[in-house]
Amino acid sequence: MTKALNPSGILGMIAGLQDLQSYREQNWEGSFSEYLDLVKERPAVTRNAYQRLYDMIVSFGTENYTEYKKPIVRYKFFDDSMDNGKDAVFGIDVHLMKLLNTLKSAALGLGPEKRVILLHGPVGSAKSSIVRLFKKGIEWYSRQPEGALYTFSWHLPSGEIVHSPLHEEPLRLIPIEMRKVVLDELNKSVSGKAKYRIDIEGDLDPVSRYLYKDQIKECGGDWLQMIERIKVRRLLLSEKDRVGIGTFQPKDEKNQDSTELTGDINYRRIAEFGSDSDPRAFNFDGEFCVANRGIIEFVEMLKLDVAFLYDLLGASQEHVVKPKKFAQTMIDEVIIGHTNEPEYRRLQSNEFMEALRDRTIKIDVPYITKWSDEARIYKRDFLPRAHGGRVHRHIAPHTLEMAAMWAVLTRLEDPKKANLTLLQKLKLYDGRTLHGYTEDNVKELRKTAVREALDGVSPRYVQDKISNALVRDTGAPSINAFMVLNELEGGLRNHSLINDEDRKKRYRELIGVVKKEYEEIVKNEVQKAIASDENAIMRLCGNYIDNVKAFTQKERVRNAFTGGYDEPDERMMRSIEEKIDIPVSRKEDFRRELMNYIGALAIDGKQFNFRMNERLYHALELKLFEDQKDSIKLSSLVSQVVDPETQAKIDIVKQRLIDQYGYDEYSATDVLHYVASIFARGDVKE
Ligand SMILES: Nc1ncnc2c1ncn2[C@@H]1O[C@H](COP(=O)(O)OP(=O)(O)O)[C@@H](O)[C@H]1O
Ligand SMILES: [Mg+2]
Repeated sequence: MTKALNPSGILGMIAGLQDLQSYREQNWEGSFSEYLDLVKERPAVTRNAYQRLYDMIVSFGTENYTEYKKPIVRYKFFDDSMDNGKDAVFGIDVHLMKLLNTLKSAALGLGPEKRVILLHGPVGSAKSSIVRLFKKGIEWYSRQPEGALYTFSWHLPSGEIVHSPLHEEPLRLIPIEMRKVVLDELNKSVSGKAKYRIDIEGDLDPVSRYLYKDQIKECGGDWLQMIERIKVRRLLLSEKDRVGIGTFQPKDEKNQDSTELTGDINYRRIAEFGSDSDPRAFNFDGEFCVANRGIIEFVEMLKLDVAFLYDLLGASQEHVVKPKKFAQTMIDEVIIGHTNEPEYRRLQSNEFMEALRDRTIKIDVPYITKWSDEARIYKRDFLPRAHGGRVHRHIAPHTLEMAAMWAVLTRLEDPKKANLTLLQKLKLYDGRTLHGYTEDNVKELRKTAVREALDGVSPRYVQDKISNALVRDTGAPSINAFMVLNELEGGLRNHSLINDEDRKKRYRELIGVVKKEYEEIVKNEVQKAIASDENAIMRLCGNYIDNVKAFTQKERVRNAFTGGYDEPDERMMRSIEEKIDIPVSRKEDFRRELMNYIGALAIDGKQFNFRMNERLYHALELKLFEDQKDSIKLSSLVSQVVDPETQAKIDIVKQRLIDQYGYDEYSATDVLHYVASIFARGDVKE
């Protein structure tokens, strides 16, 4: 027996989730005259493909910031909020701005709409991601009220319904000789309301042209009667349904056939219509036709056969394609291609590049050179997210950052300044400050590099190696930076794109650089965790400041224990100051500055706390660590035999690593052992 579903249960839930209003809007159907009313009310429905794409992107909003004194606009569209950030593009805002400027001027009809937009960059630099986002964006936009667009179908007296095969704009049904007058009138009625002038270019598609002639004859030349046979409907763009979104991928040269771009004769239908010149016997299913009103992507554009390429350049320049046996047909779509940098370079000496350069707008899409932005890619891909995140092994802190650090290092050119290391350069690019370097210096560094961000390791390689590390069964429940770095290093041996031995050697050395940096980071972290006893730091800080105060004012310090007065404890003060390399000759200055600062605070009625002075804080942490290290006997960890008292102390530190630094039980133990082994090696500054 089936149990009746409670309408307030699942069905009720579904009913609540459906949006009838937008369903009705998205399935709107009306007469041509109703469409004209709609156009008058919302002229934006007639926008061309460039205008719609540009407006869609801008509709997500922008953010402004400055970098090296240059104002930068970040288009929030590239955060991919439509899809939980899955295809978000980071770190190349300057280049995305150039792309957006091109789209804007295409939307305004200033020229780029007659060119192919060619994204150009090294492999794995987000070229495909950008185009994927565009496609996703216009699909989404076409479903929003503000992104609505329309097309039409013929409803013939025979009962037959024929859709415009290129899902064209209904206004194209207005005879060319009347358009100017009609458009002027329309534009007048929407003036002040329209962002762009309403405009329609060119003739109808071959099928509609054929039916138009046929039907107007039947109606004795009466256009008004003929137009009754037209139904206008909302058009929803969809890559899956092959509406408004096309992709063309080069195959091997012998297999390339222009019918893939326009369409082909449908032999079965010829029998039906009795002639191969009846356009209804033609399938307008080539990519250019499919993509009409939206966007067409040319994957690896320069791998196309040259003949094809000329077709494509023609299509962009004239906005027409020519299906076999038919007259030229207008298209309205954004044409965007991409090419890998090596492919482009290979063709640079080729004469046809001359023609190409003239008819394409090349937008560079380089690799990311900002460390934290590169890390965002891997965090997006591999850290569980609030929604839709994948569940997998725990990733120890710094693992993804270290992979990103290596990737960026491989892309940077060695600094020409002798006293600047590559790692320092990376940190400068990441916005850290370094003594002696101003923003202008960093800008200069960027300028003098020639192929920076065009060579190096691609994010895709790093993504692959991180996944390898994640699935490799090591018995450990979490992965750490070493596992990933080893995976990255191991993969170099048979990396298909890097076959130059010198380069491999350099990349391996950079793995070493990153490992060393990682060692520094975790050492610091463990030290902090050991010393992160707030009360202990506060006590130590109070004690230090009491002594410094007495020292600077040439007084004695009250000994809380004996009740007597002692000389300031010089040894204690120095043991803290030495931690941050304050030489004896500078100690008085340091102490005086500190007291001045505390004094100034007091005048404002504020009290000093150790967090206000980062250097002092760090010194206190190090001192506390030193004091506690021996009591914890960290180095005894390596010996595996730990007495219960030490174990209890270690457990406290471990818990701090878990609670405050994002480790799990396993990786916390792991990192403690690792740092202990460094101390056991004895190469730590004591
Ligand atoms: N700037 C970037 N921001 C975010 N992700 C990026 C960026 N560059 C590359 N990626 C990631 O690297 C991978 C390869 O990118 P893809 O778009 O396929 O590159 P391309 O088409 O240029 O070869 C994708 O997973 C992409 O998300
Ligand atoms: Mg690609």
